[in-house]
Amino acid sequence: MAIRNIVKIGDPILKKTSREVVKFDDRLFTLLDDMKDTMYKADGVGLAAVQVGVLKRVVVLDCGDGYLELINPEITHREGEQVEMEGCLSLPGEYANTIRPEKVKVKAQNREGKWCLYSGEGLKARCFCHEIDHLDGFVFTDRLAPPELQPQDEKG
Ligand code: NI
Repeated sequence: MAIRNIVKIGDPILKKTSREVVKFDDRLFTLLDDMKDTMYKADGVGLAAVQVGVLKRVVVLDCGDGYLELINPEITHREGEQVEMEGCLSLPGEYANTIRPEKVKVKAQNREGKWCLYSGEGLKARCFCHEIDHLDGFVFTDRLAPPELQPQDEKG
């Protein structure tokens, strides 16, 4: 167990595409354990491996209803639309409204390599989309809602 450094925006690694996991070995388990510790320590609801500098298709998340590990995750179904506030541990202090599907279904492998199915709506759907986006080099500022849907209190 170890806390890893979280890569911040501006680091070119955040724009890279992560690689499929093929080996379900101790190295992967250590990465998962460290990502879990790092996410909770930072008070995050999700973390992608690229955010700790590892270009593997690995995500951990906990949107308040339990801890999940997603390996090689894919969104298999999207439904509806939501506009909600989003932030990211790699963009400290930045928040903005994004457009995401209201509901998604995801398939992913667990640490034993078994394929599992997940569904989420609201915050959980956003979280799935946000973290899986990281694996393809996207951050939430790539998914911004138009200016008229952003909060007006600070920026006028
Ligand atoms: Ni993020």
